[in-house]
Amino acid sequence: MTLVEDAVAGAMARVLTPELARRDPLVRPSEHADFQSNAALSLAKQAGTPPRELARALQHELAGGAVSATLAGPGFLNLTLTDERLWGQVVDRLADQRIGVGRPLAGTRTVVDYSGPNIAKGMHVGHLRSTVIGDVLARVLAFLGGEVIRQNHLGDWGTNFGMLIQYLDEHPEYDWRADSAAGQVSALDGLYQAARRVFEADPEFVERSRLRVVALQGGDEETLALWRELIAVSSQAFQALYDRLGVLLTEQDIAAESSYNPYLDEVVEELVQAGLAVESDGALCVFAEDLTGPDGEPVPLIVRKKDGGYGYPATDLATLRHRVRGLGADRILYVTDARQALHFRQVFATARRAGWLPAEVEAVHVPFGMVLGPGGTPFKTRSGGTVPLAGLLDAAVEGVRAAMADKEHEFDGAALEAVIQAAGIGAVKYADLSTSRAKNYVFDTAQMVSLNGNTGVYLQYAHARLCTLLGKAVEPVAEVDVSLPLHPAERALILLLDGFDAVLGEVARQLEPHRLCGYLFALAKALTDFYGSCPVLKAPTPGLRANRLALCRLTARTLAQGLDLLGLKAPERM
Ligand code: ARG
Repeated sequence: MTLVEDAVAGAMARVLTPELARRDPLVRPSEHADFQSNAALSLAKQAGTPPRELARALQHELAGGAVSATLAGPGFLNLTLTDERLWGQVVDRLADQRIGVGRPLAGTRTVVDYSGPNIAKGMHVGHLRSTVIGDVLARVLAFLGGEVIRQNHLGDWGTNFGMLIQYLDEHPEYDWRADSAAGQVSALDGLYQAARRVFEADPEFVERSRLRVVALQGGDEETLALWRELIAVSSQAFQALYDRLGVLLTEQDIAAESSYNPYLDEVVEELVQAGLAVESDGALCVFAEDLTGPDGEPVPLIVRKKDGGYGYPATDLATLRHRVRGLGADRILYVTDARQALHFRQVFATARRAGWLPAEVEAVHVPFGMVLGPGGTPFKTRSGGTVPLAGLLDAAVEGVRAAMADKEHEFDGAALEAVIQAAGIGAVKYADLSTSRAKNYVFDTAQMVSLNGNTGVYLQYAHARLCTLLGKAVEPVAEVDVSLPLHPAERALILLLDGFDAVLGEVARQLEPHRLCGYLFALAKALTDFYGSCPVLKAPTPGLRANRLALCRLTARTLAQGLDLLGLKAPERM
């Protein structure tokens, strides 16, 4: 695609004024040729030339090059790459460490805020989505040359801690350390639920919990010690889950809510000084004209509560200010569920007005839909609790294990276990990533480990099969003969391979990992078509065999690179 765009842009430079020549050559994949360009149609008026005439001039300029052009309709250009150029493309990409993908994001700095579980409440499936999606965005932006700063905004502060600590204080017999010693991510879920039951039933406990929050925020040493212990234990459990998921997050990426605590007074004071925060019902609020609730009234962003406490909004304002001033971000992504959309609109608008978020810095909420249980209902345990994440991963791993037991393979022991884990964990991640992120999706273990259809296992298997095939070609790697005619299935595969950088660019712009999934799935299908009509090891001539092996090598590398950007392992045998 880049190749064709460059060719059309070159022709435009010779036919049009410099100003018009800089416009988008409007090259799109086409059914009638490899690509089509609408440049002549869109620029004719400004160029003062009838569209067909302009198209003909471009065609004339392209003649004899790597792209052959024919005229169609009122002024379309149908563009076809020569066989020689396409084989040449395979050679070029194979010779490049980065298989031809550029670094368009070099010089940019993006903060990616993702995962952000709440310590007092444990981690639920929503955090799984944030973790998996955010990780792909971080990987893709970095691969495209951008500097990425990962930020795990751990919820480690706030009123829930008063409740938990008070409960532990009153129930010395409750052995939460035993749960957590087992390395359970859900270690604190049990504690949270036990404390919550008392909290809901006993108003006096509510009051004692409130006082406990005051003690925590006032720096009471005994309270702080327990708070720190709760955090240490659950961060370890979170890290164990991150490691199991194979996401990039480490302890170093943690910038927890509590770390912004020292700045909250100042942030809110600045808002008051600027006349942005006003008192309303005893609380300090920021109103924005254009953010109104269902009743048409402006909805407040509460920056300081009636009781003088700060909450999520004030913390996020301090966080945003720090990301611009301290971290020097020029783009900030917040990967959270869609229900927080209003919160972020308010925070961004307030930060803009306060001057903390300059016009050249982009702040984006990257929302996602819900994970649903079987039957499309909200995902809860029978008793209404959150479904433990580790159990979900286990279920997918067991699904793969069962499928492997029915299949013929040559593995045993640790090697078998590694493949099962890679496929099982990958299946869960891929199922999440492959649906358009704004949509809800149903967590369906049987579907996600299936070998047919758009699944992680299917892609991993396609890659492993290629590796097996390549392993059978024992001869030294031979040069590609670019003069050989292309079979349509080879052409289709090469054109897809050529679209890899474009799709990564799209993921980086639209922040939608499912586009990469769709691309890799299309690539794997094109590969299957190619196998069907183009024998590789049994190719009719040694020259063709060498060319096809090269094509297989590039496809294997592209699949492996794509899987890696999705955070999936690509085993060489399966
Ligand atoms: N803890 C939040 C939650 O559970 C996610 C944090 C997102 N990041 C942020 N800066 N607000 O939904």
